[in-house]
Amino acid sequence: MEFHVYESARAACEAAGMLIAAQITRKGDSVLGLATGSTPVPAYEKLVQWYQKGVIDFDRIRTFNLDEYVGIDHKNPLSYHAFMQEHLFSKVNLRPENVHLPSGHSAAAGKAYDDAIRAAGGIDIQLLGIGRNGHIGFNEPAKEFTYGTHVVTLTQNTIEANARFFKSADEVPRQAISMGIGNIMAAKCVVLVATGESKAEAVYKTIRGPITPEVPASILQLHPCCVILTDREAGSLMKD
Ligand code: F6R
Repeated sequence: MEFHVYESARAACEAAGMLIAAQITRKGDSVLGLATGSTPVPAYEKLVQWYQKGVIDFDRIRTFNLDEYVGIDHKNPLSYHAFMQEHLFSKVNLRPENVHLPSGHSAAAGKAYDDAIRAAGGIDIQLLGIGRNGHIGFNEPAKEFTYGTHVVTLTQNTIEANARFFKSADEVPRQAISMGIGNIMAAKCVVLVATGESKAEAVYKTIRGPITPEVPASILQLHPCCVILTDREAGSLMKD
């Protein structure tokens, strides 16, 4: 596990964008695992800039997002489909048939998503944010790790954290469909970005704590290629 601390949140996120751009440069038909939320926005901004300057090309890139709310229309601006359109898909030359987000709320929908990832040859680089409770994707703290894409019931902690995007916590969907820990661990390389003081404890437990499904990100200690990028605040408990 590599761990790097940056002076600002923007720098940490842009560094993640750089690792994704490097992957695209080295392999033009890379499979990218993508995340939503506030954290990755500067990474997507950099990718768009590099695309506009002709540094990177998305023509043969395939993407698979981590998660989506259940019961929200894909055209709803608060859906993760809409988020990805706004921040990346509409701004680069990704082919619509090459972008994938999980959707639906059945075991069959989860299995179809796992099959599509496998058929694409697996994920080359997976971008991750982290929840205050240590969740990755929407894999919430639990008694056991999940393997494939599955429907999850969001915890109160996550509903409150995501309420900032909605009119109120009552409007946050209660369920989501998410890649599992097994999907994330199967990615060839994982880049986790964490910014802000509210993530400091989750970062510390992820890197130094016991590997436990109660802190889903802690399993990344076992990943052979995992890079964690934080700003000063999120890295503040990692003293030595
Ligand atoms: C989103 C996702 C979530 C977020 C996490 C942090 O696709 O997978 O795990 O990465 O909730 O969200 P932000 O970045 O908004 O703090």
